[in-house]
Amino acid sequence: MNTSLFENSEQKEFDYFAVNCGFEKIFNTSYSKAYALFSMILSDILKKSKHPLRILDIGCGDGWTAEFIAGANIGGTYLGIDTSEESIKKLNRRIPYERKLKVSGMVESAEWLVSPESSCEIRKILGGIPDIIICNTACHQIRKSYPYIYKIFAASGLSMNKDGILLVGDYYYPEDLSDDEMELDRIWIKNNTGQTPTPRSGFIPRTEMELVLKNAGFETEDVREVRANRAISIIYYLFRLKIRSW
Ligand SMILES: C[S@@+](CC[C@H](N)C(=O)[O-])C[C@H]1O[C@@H](n2cnc3c(N)ncnc32)[C@H](O)[C@@H]1O
Repeated sequence: MNTSLFENSEQKEFDYFAVNCGFEKIFNTSYSKAYALFSMILSDILKKSKHPLRILDIGCGDGWTAEFIAGANIGGTYLGIDTSEESIKKLNRRIPYERKLKVSGMVESAEWLVSPESSCEIRKILGGIPDIIICNTACHQIRKSYPYIYKIFAASGLSMNKDGILLVGDYYYPEDLSDDEMELDRIWIKNNTGQTPTPRSGFIPRTEMELVLKNAGFETEDVREVRANRAISIIYYLFRLKIRSW
């Protein structure tokens, strides 16, 4: 893998966030309602699933999700994939060895999941096929380098447990929000997180994501949405899906 492929300015931002304040401070504090929804649904899934679990996290970031799962005393294996080298370094150091969750991280683009060798490699690392696949607030970033998000989920679906769960969360600006209102959100985001704000066209709206996931072979079991926080209008959605049975 050629990591220099990932060296664009936004990737450097993620590296910076991982090394400095950490993703929790940047994202979870700023988008508190989105974080609360994701944590609540993930907790519920973890509680109701049979352990040990095999978890694949696409665009995993610096490991707060792995820590959240390990902190719930879940046994099993977790593999995080992300293009940010610093995030993966942090993930790999983050979970103490005594925890029941064994965590691995790979510096890779989500696009790798479409390649024929990836499912074998994932099985080797996780000790079997994934029971849960997570992709949280990463699609709008992934599509900047690889626009075929549908292919990533279709390939993931083929190589996961048939009773498994896919959890996909991301943001979008509602259609009825004017460009001026959206600009206010973007200014808020820049000022409060330091992140370069994604424009409206960079996000996948909820209805479009629903189609992407359906075409990738998934059936929606539950979908929720909330405003990311009270100060801004950007919406966070969270799909919980299973593989469609024919
Ligand atoms: C907003 S962060 C979300 C991180 C994590 N899922 C979370 O909930 O905190 C988006 C992540 O997507 C990663 N990313 C961007 N392009 C990617 C790609 N092509 N493949 C995998 N990850 C990518 C970034 O490095 C970043 O860590």
